[in-house]
Amino acid sequence: MGLLLLFLLLCGVADFARSLSITTPDQMIEKAKGETAYMPCKFTLSPEDHGPLDIEWLLSPPDNQQVDQVIILYSGDKIYDDYYPDLKGRVHFTSSDLKSGDASINVTNLQLSDTGTYQCKVKKAPGVGNKKIQLKVLVKPSGIRCYVDGSEEIGNDFKLKCEPKEGSLPLEYAWQKLSNAQKMPTSLIAEMTSPIISVKNATTEYSGTYSCTVSNRVGSDQCLLRLDVVPPSNRAGTIAGAIIGTLLALVLIGLIIFCCHKKRREKKYEKEVHHDIREDVPPPKSRTSTARSYIGSNHSSLGSMSPSNMEGYSKTQYNQVPSEDFERAPQSPTLPPTKGSIERKGA
Ligand SMILES: *[C@@H]1O[C@H](CO)[C@@H](O)[C@H](O)[C@H]1NC(C)=O
Ligand SMILES: *[C@@H]1O[C@H](CO)[C@@H](O)[C@H](O)[C@H]1NC(C)=O
Repeated sequence: MGLLLLFLLLCGVADFARSLSITTPDQMIEKAKGETAYMPCKFTLSPEDHGPLDIEWLLSPPDNQQVDQVIILYSGDKIYDDYYPDLKGRVHFTSSDLKSGDASINVTNLQLSDTGTYQCKVKKAPGVGNKKIQLKVLVKPSGIRCYVDGSEEIGNDFKLKCEPKEGSLPLEYAWQKLSNAQKMPTSLIAEMTSPIISVKNATTEYSGTYSCTVSNRVGSDQCLLRLDVVPPSNRAGTIAGAIIGTLLALVLIGLIIFCCHKKRREKKYEKEVHHDIREDVPPPKSRTSTARSYIGSNHSSLGSMSPSNMEGYSKTQYNQVPSEDFERAPQSPTLPPTKGSIERKGA
């Protein structure tokens, strides 16, 4: 048995030595779109191979059942490379002396459609040889966008997302936290290789700079994301702003209604209500100034606005009204303007 094996092996070796053989093994090549694919095909001749040297490269595309296409040919000491329109000008022999035993080619500026099986056939009668190379053209990940989907507030749930614009599958994701020498929060470690990280009940511990690297077999790309988990007070500020706006609008509407009402009254009781009008005048002014001082005070404290401040607002306003009234007291000593306006509204 062992002898038989040895005999077969020796025959094989003898056969190799006696005729043409291709020395590079079959292989698979993966390259990125736009790159150059080097497809090696080296051969040795034997003294018995007397015929003319012919070298032929064929391509069998993977998707369609097309017959093998000749893409480049060396025959009669000449190179012919104008067979396959898709590869026009992109396929070349790499050696300037093919007879020396190098039939390798380069395919430049790779396109996705170049994916397929390439076959190198060398013929020098009686010797023949061929080998196959599978080429796969892939797209590198690129144009990655990192962003926070949701509101970055303490106690909130939101998502960190990492989306490449293009890139051949399978894609691998790797998140890292870069800033403050802080490690990835433990609750996120399980998602470090996912395109989306779900943050639940956020704390300031999550704040920092994150990177997301997307890679496939031919390349990788990265994006950075800055996360600032802030107290929800900022949102309270916005709400406060909205409430203030609404209040202001109500005050304005109230003023307009009040003025119209007053004008009508003026016309109706022009004579008898003479001193009443004098009393009427202060309330609108006082109201306007109250509103203004309120806006002013709020603007200055907007940054630190919090629900507790909000509650304080009504008190402040209340406190301010009497003090202004007090300042105005000399002008209308008899009736507090607010009281007067309320009475008039009722009437
Ligand atoms: C063929 O491609 C390889 C790899 O890109 C490159 O190193 C080599 O210089 C190219 N050879 C020729 C002759 O263009
Ligand atoms: C959110 O986190 C805080 C403090 O870390 C904790 O007190 C609270 O119970 C958590 N809420 C939920 C819904 O998990």
